[in-house]
Order: sequence, then structure tokens, then C-alpha cells
Amino acid sequence: MGIVLKTPEEIESMRVAGRLAGEVLKMIREHVKIGMSTGELDDICHDHITRVQQAIPAPLNYRGFPKSICTSLNHVVCHGIPGEKRLKNGDILNIDITVIKDGWHGDTSKMFLIGEPTVRARRICQVAHQAMVTGIEMVRPGLRLGDIGFAIQRYSEAQGCSVVREYCGHGIGKVFHEDPQVLHYGRPGVGEVLVPGMVFTIEPMINVGRRGTRLLGDGWTVITKDRSLSAQWEHTLAVTDDGYDVLTQLPGDEL
Ligand code: MF3
Ligand code: CO
Ligand code: CO
Repeated sequence: MGIVLKTPEEIESMRVAGRLAGEVLKMIREHVKIGMSTGELDDICHDHITRVQQAIPAPLNYRGFPKSICTSLNHVVCHGIPGEKRLKNGDILNIDITVIKDGWHGDTSKMFLIGEPTVRARRICQVAHQAMVTGIEMVRPGLRLGDIGFAIQRYSEAQGCSVVREYCGHGIGKVFHEDPQVLHYGRPGVGEVLVPGMVFTIEPMINVGRRGTRLLGDGWTVITKDRSLSAQWEHTLAVTDDGYDVLTQLPGDEL
């Protein structure tokens, strides 16, 4: 397909979609608590996206995905399917929201701590967040994608954690997943050169234990092979003339 550059006007449209996705994460926060099921969280997000935002939850029926959001709990790396499972004290949960507004996608995810997680659980959430921030803050024209992957990997491994290889960030626009692939590991000086108008996600999945993953029989849920905890954060960003613009960040909020 190739990388589709976006015009400044198109980036403003993507910011609308991005902010809506960010607002869903903010809206759902008060509901993410002990006793709530991931299916109930999905219902609330689905209603908010379709009724309040007048937007489309991109995951629903995407390649057969059955729900409107992804909920990835503890040792689930990504693409967890909301269901009957109830949140309990000490859980860590990634909620991944992608909305389509006026044909444009916004994709963002974050970790939620339920009750009082262990030091190790809190730490993997922090390391995954810092891994994402490390990647985002490097973005500028002339940099190469391999530089970003290398920096995310170097930081994460220096913290004693591992980087998942099988899933990556991605170009995004009218299409949910488009070129380029944004690997969260790699070698400096290789890969696509960034230019203004590129829009992609950075969404590292970081494990406490080994990097290996396994796909469950439902065809979606990805877990760590060694059952160690995994964490992920995601933003959608555009390359600007002198740096980056995080389209899924709400005004006044931290990354
Ligand atoms: N939102 C995920 C991503 O960051 C993709 C989810 S695909 C789904 O790319 F089908 F599982 F929803
Ligand atoms: Co994504
Ligand atoms: Co996502």
C-alpha cells in the first residue's frame, strides 16, 4: 500500500477522532473498579461512542472481532475480548479504544490499576508508559523508524523487561492499520525516514518476563508464553515540521 501522508486539514480531522478516543478512556475511568466485568466496560464504551459521540467503535466486526473495545488483563498482552471476567483487587488492565469519526481513526490505550497492585505490577505499567513516551518524544522529520524501535527496546531492556515482537504500532488514517509498521525494537539508522504528514501509533507491549507470546484458541487473545505480566500504552501521533503532535492527547493531560 505505501505510506499515505495526511494534509494539515486531514490531521485536524484525525485530531477530532483522536480526542474522542481519549475521551472514552477518561469517561470509563470511574467504572474501572473491583467487581466490574470487562463486558460491562465494553457496553458502557459502546454506548458512549455510538450515542454520545455519534462515532463508530472500530474494533467491532474488524476481521471478526466481536466487541467494541479490547480489554487485556494481567498476563494478556493485547486484543483481549471483553466478557464475563470481573476485575479483582490487584489486577492491571489495558483498555484499547479506537473510534472512527467522519471516516478517520483515532487509536489509544492505557493501563488501569485496580485496587492495590503489587510493586511489580505497578512497575510494569510505569515501564511500558515510559517506553511509549521515549518513542514519542524522539519523533521529528529525518529520524528513522529503527531509531524509535531501538530506543524503546534499549530503555525497556535496561529496566529488566522484554519487548513483544509479534505486534507493533502502525500507520493509521482512513484505514485502521496501514503502512508503516512501527516496531518497538530494532536498530538505529534503519527503516523508513519520518516526514511531516505521517500519522502512526506507538504502542509498545512490555513484559515482566520473557518476550514470547501465545495466541489463544479464540483467535484474538494474546498472552505471555511464560504467563508473566504485560503492559501497554498507545497514542496516535502526526509528524510535524519540527517534531510531533499527539492526536489522542486531551488538552491539559499528560501523555
Ligand atoms: N486497537 C488495536 C491496535 O492498537 C487493534 C485492535 S484490533 C481488534 O492496533 F480487532 F482487536 F480490535
Ligand atoms: Co493501534
Ligand atoms: Co489500539
